[in-house]
Amino acid sequence: MDANIYTQIKASIKQSLKIDLENYKDEQMRRRLDSWLIRTRANTWNDYFNLISRDADELERFRNYLTINVTEFFRDANRWNALKEEILPYLLKNSMENRKVEGLKLWSAGCSIGAEAYTLAMMIAEVAPFQKYFILATDLDRGALLKARSRGPYTQEDIRNLSLVQRQKYLTSVSPFYVSDGLQKNIRFEEQDLLAARFDNNFDLIVCRNVVIYFTTEAKDKLYAKFSAALRPGGILFMGGTEIISGPTKYGLQNFGISFYKKF
Ligand SMILES: C[S@@+](CC[C@H](N)C(=O)[O-])C[C@H]1O[C@@H](n2cnc3c(N)ncnc32)[C@H](O)[C@@H]1O
Repeated sequence: MDANIYTQIKASIKQSLKIDLENYKDEQMRRRLDSWLIRTRANTWNDYFNLISRDADELERFRNYLTINVTEFFRDANRWNALKEEILPYLLKNSMENRKVEGLKLWSAGCSIGAEAYTLAMMIAEVAPFQKYFILATDLDRGALLKARSRGPYTQEDIRNLSLVQRQKYLTSVSPFYVSDGLQKNIRFEEQDLLAARFDNNFDLIVCRNVVIYFTTEAKDKLYAKFSAALRPGGILFMGGTEIISGPTKYGLQNFGISFYKKF
């Protein structure tokens, strides 16, 4: 795809989907768009934009494709175990002692269909069942949020990392699976573009995993600074396996084990 066409497509996507591709890596996005057009029945991008202006389902499919909302419960289980065994106990002790507040304030940023936010809720129920907490869960994908708020349905694939006990405790018993409503009561799902929104603050933990992979260096730079400002001192940012923040101290963050950064 040549640069002129890409510029036009970016403008059309911004208009129809309110997604600003200026913040996403050029080369990967152009490749993704090229392969998407081949998969659709449209011959040209003009035809395709005509199609999505009339067909809401197709528009949603396109949005899902662009934002790539693949997820699952306890995705990358090894890191979630580190969260459970090392980070959560640290947060419970330090955060609560130092701030004299009642509850933990957590954020799943780029939560997709909600598996990550529900994973956090399961974990707290297991580690500190009487702990007060609040989870903000945000994404720019409206369709994904709808499913998150509906507590499912989740597939066998989505729940493959859950133990038998967790399944029995938190899910309906037959496929497609729904999360129990008790798990949802401390979670608020909200539509939000991480690259445009102003953030709330005083978070103990921000989980932002497998979201920034397609962002440009500039977009990541701004986001990390905003995340740091949104954390309370001593708060933790939990990133994805390949999303390593180089020179975290310039954002007021320090390494705190693999995938974790602590605000100082
Ligand atoms: C691959 S999923 C990751 C879901 C979950 N964090 C996980 O690791 O399982 C990426 C999510 O990021 C969301 N996303 C992408 N760009 C975003 C943006 N600018 N603002 C908010 N969410 C965004 C997508 O809609 C998608 O649901």
